[in-house]
Amino acid sequence: MTLSPRHLAAALAGATALATAPAAMAAPTIPGYTHGQPGLARSPVSLQELDPLKRTLLLGDDDVRALRQSREILADQVEAILDVWYGFVGATPELLASFKHTGTGAPDAAYLGAVRKRFGQWILDTADARFDQAWLDYQHEIALRHAPAKKNQTDGVQSTPLVPMRYLSALTIPVTTTLKPFLAKKGASAADVEKMHAAWVKSVLLQTILWSQPYAREGQF
Ligand code: HEM
Repeated sequence: MTLSPRHLAAALAGATALATAPAAMAAPTIPGYTHGQPGLARSPVSLQELDPLKRTLLLGDDDVRALRQSREILADQVEAILDVWYGFVGATPELLASFKHTGTGAPDAAYLGAVRKRFGQWILDTADARFDQAWLDYQHEIALRHAPAKKNQTDGVQSTPLVPMRYLSALTIPVTTTLKPFLAKKGASAADVEKMHAAWVKSVLLQTILWSQPYAREGQF
């Protein structure tokens, strides 16, 4: 099936029913979203290893407070944020390639739409992050879903075998740069917007570093 520009636009911008409940409660409503579920593999990165990584990123309690502050600001803007992020991916062929159906060579609208729902929940989860074992384990799951180990499996699609690792951390910049205007939309002070933005940069970078783990050679992460 060849995807017409209109269908692609609909998939990229498609409204999704987003759960705004905490991660554990939201689980049944988002296909493939398994945060906090028993049976999820344990992260090969330990909480003891996570701590110095957070310190290296200067990610501290102030940042966690700023992430929490961002939650209420972002909660009812999730779809608009996803429109911007999907717009960026859709306009960047090298990124859109990871959503291509291997049979048709065209972007897979159903795949884009399924991932979009979990991406929306991820916005809330990033603001809510407790950096505990459950959080770490879902980081590992997201890592595997970008890598050859598990890409395409969750949505049962035929697509490229992996998201190239080099783009993971690179996407931190468009994601967090375009988030800033949304952080500023609800009347927070300029100083608070800066703090929330900085906290988001650190958290997204931390996550993409964790997501690079499956790509690293044994013992070299
Ligand atoms: C800051 C960087 C990135 C963020 C925050 C991000 C976020 C996410 C999230 C939240 C999911 C869904 C996870 C879940 O299943 O619960 C996901 C899946 C996915 N992302 Fe990313 N991502 C990033 C980088 C990239 C890049 C650079 C690409 C493409 C070049 C990409 C392509 C994909 C694909 C294809 C999936 C679906 C994987 C599957 O088959 O399960 N991502 N991403």
